[in-house]
Amino acid sequence: MELLVDKLNKIFTKAFCDAGYDESEIKVGECAIEKFGDFQCQSPLFLAKKYHKAPFIIANDVLAHLPQNDMIQNATVANPGYINFFVDNTFLAKYLEEYLQEVEKPRKPTDKKVLIDYGGANCAKPLHVGHLRSADIGEAIKRISKFMGDDCIGDVHLGDWGLQMGMVIYAVWEKHPDLVYFDENYTGEYPKEPPFSMEELKVMYPSISQRAKEDEILHEKVKQITYQLQQGRRGYVALWRHIIEVSKKLIKQDYDKLNANFDLWLGESDSKKYQDEVIEYVIKNGYSRVSDGATIVDISLPEDKTEIPPFMLLNSAGAALYSTTELATIVQREREFNVDEIIYVVDNRQELHFTQVFRCVKKTNILKKNIDLKFVGFGTMNGPDGKPYKTRDGRAMGLNDLMDMVKSKALEKVSQSKIGYSQEEIENISNVVAISALKFADLCVLRTKDLIFDVDKFCSFEGKTGPYILYTITRANSILAKTEKLSKDFCLLEEDRKLALSLIKFTDAVKNAYEKSAPSYICDYAYSLANEFNTFYAKSSIIYEENLEKKYSKIMLTNYTKNMLKKCMDLLAINTLEKM
Ligand code: ARG
Repeated sequence: MELLVDKLNKIFTKAFCDAGYDESEIKVGECAIEKFGDFQCQSPLFLAKKYHKAPFIIANDVLAHLPQNDMIQNATVANPGYINFFVDNTFLAKYLEEYLQEVEKPRKPTDKKVLIDYGGANCAKPLHVGHLRSADIGEAIKRISKFMGDDCIGDVHLGDWGLQMGMVIYAVWEKHPDLVYFDENYTGEYPKEPPFSMEELKVMYPSISQRAKEDEILHEKVKQITYQLQQGRRGYVALWRHIIEVSKKLIKQDYDKLNANFDLWLGESDSKKYQDEVIEYVIKNGYSRVSDGATIVDISLPEDKTEIPPFMLLNSAGAALYSTTELATIVQREREFNVDEIIYVVDNRQELHFTQVFRCVKKTNILKKNIDLKFVGFGTMNGPDGKPYKTRDGRAMGLNDLMDMVKSKALEKVSQSKIGYSQEEIENISNVVAISALKFADLCVLRTKDLIFDVDKFCSFEGKTGPYILYTITRANSILAKTEKLSKDFCLLEEDRKLALSLIKFTDAVKNAYEKSAPSYICDYAYSLANEFNTFYAKSSIIYEENLEKKYSKIMLTNYTKNMLKKCMDLLAINTLEKM
């Protein structure tokens, strides 16, 4: 379907050409002042110099050559040379209906296969506030890309191979040193059931990691265990499998609360099978050198303004690192999933790591095909002091701590306003409100920016918040529930044009969100649509409207808005409520 702006651009391009200005880049945009028009063409201003004519003259020439059409109404020239115009109402009504049907249809596939690496939780460790942002932003990017026709897969890329694994193994040993996992001479099969519960696992890592910070010997022991695990010590590997299995269940519970649905539950360790090959490839082809015992790849470029340190392939003990796994994972994604693009939704603070990895991929020509590697970084969620959010005892704020704060605030707000609801209803509503508050707040700032955790602001039913959008949807729903379905032709009332014009801006919002990997464009759009709807609601009497044609028009617009807001929230992976 040809979009309205494209239709208008075409008409104007023809008018410019017919008037003697042969230009291909004629564009119309929104008119800044509502009473002057819906749209505006500013091109005369940019062409004045080239044609040695006052913009005003060009604008009048063009106006005189506007071709016959059923869209443009009341076009006028305003100083110093703008062409302002309105869109015909009958046309707009018809266009809106077609547009909304088109939006519902699946897009033509782009034939691009994209893997989105987001989530990044670490096994055995609780999720923290950084993981929240990755899950929220990554899930939205995945849904938006799918909507645009890409073939997308989301991979959680768990941290399952680091020191935290050694810590948990140590914790199990301390509690049950007699288990077969610790007997080096044991050659039999290991038990199927893990020797710990989910609840037990939850507390193991935090307590050992705290102790290891203060106890040098314990820290060394943990490092030793991790090393032996990575070397394949049978008992440790068996125990590690249990840790992964139980951890995944715990992690999934958290991601489910956030509506983050991963297609792949792979981890850093899954690329292990490509690791030796990758290391050998880089060394054999002469891309690396040894420096201070470590094997590194120089990746700095003459044009670098700041120094980019070398890529680390192996440390001085000959062990593979986070960067090595990263390289092996890219090879795995090429071979096993044949992707065209990989998008990494990771904290801005890991940007250097990805610059090194991407450069290393390029320098070593390790891939058979050209895969687009994209780092999509995000800022931190800060505490009220503007610094990365920490608990009172200095730990990174846990995801569940954060959720609890938001939930209790939402419960307080919902309980105040929902008189006569059962406790269960209130709790259900507050849960959805809380998650919408947290997710929308996270998604609505420009991705690269930091944001401050402000529970009152996030949970407010006014302003640019999740609860406000939820509330607007339920308001629309309650109108629809109170009005009967009328079957008439949809005609757009003059007074409701702004809402109609707002509805058709959806395409621009998704396009921007997609191209810039920035879900905030959808939040901005949903917010402005909700505002427009609430203005429409305030000045209309929909339920008691006696003129049936008018009433029908308003009911339809209410329904259209509700569906559009729900569509936006679905792209953002935020659940909505039918009523509250
Ligand atoms: N597990 C990492 C962390 O918690 C994030 C992983 C991001 N993805 C990646 N391919 N490195 O910091």
